[in-house]
Amino acid sequence: MPSQVRASILEDLPEILGIRDEALREAVIRAWALSLRDSSFDRISDMPGEGAPNHFVLYEGSQELHLRGVAKLAMAIVDEFTSTFPQVRIDPDLVLAGALCHDIGKCWECDPVNLARWQERPDRAGYPSLRHSVYGAHICLAAGLPETIAHIALGHSMEGQHIKVSTECMIVRWADNSWWYSAAALGLCRADSLSAAGPMMTPRPLP
Ligand SMILES: [Fe+2]
Repeated sequence: MPSQVRASILEDLPEILGIRDEALREAVIRAWALSLRDSSFDRISDMPGEGAPNHFVLYEGSQELHLRGVAKLAMAIVDEFTSTFPQVRIDPDLVLAGALCHDIGKCWECDPVNLARWQERPDRAGYPSLRHSVYGAHICLAAGLPETIAHIALGHSMEGQHIKVSTECMIVRWADNSWWYSAAALGLCRADSLSAAGPMMTPRPLP
């Protein structure tokens, strides 16, 4: 992995350094380097800030703000429950690594080169050919991350509705949803990108 790629990953996602297990931490960096390598993005902060193309699209800010926010929200959930209910069993490393990798497949689904190809001929490979959750699970496994992290990449999104999800995946899934629904309610997302948010969504205009 080129040293500038590694440096950019740690610059964009400094929370990676909070992963205590060194092998897991290095595998997270390796996985992001792999996902970026096979995309037209140079770094994570070049990726658009969106839940998926044309869904929950931030007016300002790119994907690393979302990844960092979900990691912080998910770890706040861990802290809340482990301090109030010390008897619970949770692996904070898996939550943190899973949160930082949950959207790793957006290098594929949000890549403008891929989007143009799929849009031109959706009959060839579909549109998208693989959603970010599915491609993300592939990247996690290819980079040597454990199946528990690949499962979070797969199960955090709609695909999770078809399987039983792990405890760590459930926490990341709701942190992810909380982030997007809060951002949308606060008026941070384009109104025309919120059709999936349902009738309860009433974005507050920004001043
Ligand atoms: Fe996400």
